[in-house]
Amino acid sequence: MKFLQYPKPIFTALSPNTEKDDVLLALKLISQPKKWKQGKEIQELEEEFKKYLGLNFSSSFNSGRVALMAILEAMEIKKKDEVLLQAFTCNSAVNSILEREAKPIFVDIDDTLNIDPKDLERKITPRSRAIMVQHTFGWPAQMEEILRIVQKRQLFLIEDCAHSLGTKYKGKFCGTFGAASFFSFGRDKIISSVFGGMAATNNQKLAEKIKTFRKKLDHPSDFWIFQQLIHPILTNLLIMPTYGLNGTLGRILLGAFHQTKILSKAVSNQEKKGKFSKHFFRTLPNALAILAFNQFKKLEKFNKHRKRIAQFYQEQLENSNFFLPLARGNEENIEPIFMRYPVLTHLETDKILTEARKRKIFLNDGWRKKPVVPPDTKLNKMEYRSKSCRRAEKTAHSIINLPTHINISKKEAQKIVDFFNQIK
Ligand SMILES: Cc1ncc(COP(=O)(O)O)c(C=O)c1O
Repeated sequence: MKFLQYPKPIFTALSPNTEKDDVLLALKLISQPKKWKQGKEIQELEEEFKKYLGLNFSSSFNSGRVALMAILEAMEIKKKDEVLLQAFTCNSAVNSILEREAKPIFVDIDDTLNIDPKDLERKITPRSRAIMVQHTFGWPAQMEEILRIVQKRQLFLIEDCAHSLGTKYKGKFCGTFGAASFFSFGRDKIISSVFGGMAATNNQKLAEKIKTFRKKLDHPSDFWIFQQLIHPILTNLLIMPTYGLNGTLGRILLGAFHQTKILSKAVSNQEKKGKFSKHFFRTLPNALAILAFNQFKKLEKFNKHRKRIAQFYQEQLENSNFFLPLARGNEENIEPIFMRYPVLTHLETDKILTEARKRKIFLNDGWRKKPVVPPDTKLNKMEYRSKSCRRAEKTAHSIINLPTHINISKKEAQKIVDFFNQIK
């Protein structure tokens, strides 16, 4: 926004996709409370979404985690059933499984930070009911191998596409391989309405059950909708500029907005302890469908930009002291979208992030330190056993994710690259 002259900070995760038109749209919606809960845009978004994926059914929710709840209920996943998922995942994915009193079984990761098919096969038991595949940071998992295992073991396949709207594997969109898939429109995802999600499937029976699940849900409250509408406005017009002037002040301001509940947190403290509040089970309200739709129209532009910035990091960091797990040459038939560009290091990542902050580069996106993120998640409450996924644990300790979103210009990417290249 030109009228605000301040040293622009670089963020990975604070309202990364928001452009001027998104802020203006949120401002307009704030003044139209009649449009907040119900309206035609919910259905329009669902129609366009399933058309994009080439699926028969999609249903919106107020988040990816609730869309996953709908899928688990549709699959009749129940007490003590095992759901296998990769370590190095988000606690909100795990909580949806725990909420059904099912058992999350953590599987280690491969070179691309996705589920390792070999470890997956080892961990399947007679109690296993479903495999959840993540496509981490928009890089597709090894689907051929995974589909073989799913068929052989007669399990449900769920695709967690929170990071991978637009990713393709062998010419097909991720999210179209499994019995069902879900997407997130969270604040730092591929497209964003601050909170929001979608469940999608081609399976008629599952679709009917997802529909039934949704019918039982209410709309979120007016205040909750207000909290989300004000988010892109406050982050862009007040919080980021303050971070640009003084990082500490910016952090205090953001903390104050969270404390006073003017802004909602992406993950509640309760959720970090494995508790999922029933009050959170809600539909996607119309106002957030409008925000999400506006972003959805820009999906191709966003993802093209992400790929370009990722390519730039790859070229510029090739000879650095950092290991680039997704610099894999031209892998055939894979089209990743790089929601982030991960780099790995044997150096202390905390120190690197502190140094970066001094240059107004804020790289802490919460995807670090623990095999279930964010880092202050209680692993025992996630039923994660220490050392059960060693590679995921090691990766979590050595990763820093670089931003690729639409607000990262080449100049800013260069600033990041210059910073990383001088680290010895
Ligand atoms: C891998 C993964 N799965 C699931 C989710 C849950 O999505 P949401 O935040 O929309 O509930 C997230 C994000 O929080 C995620 O990163």
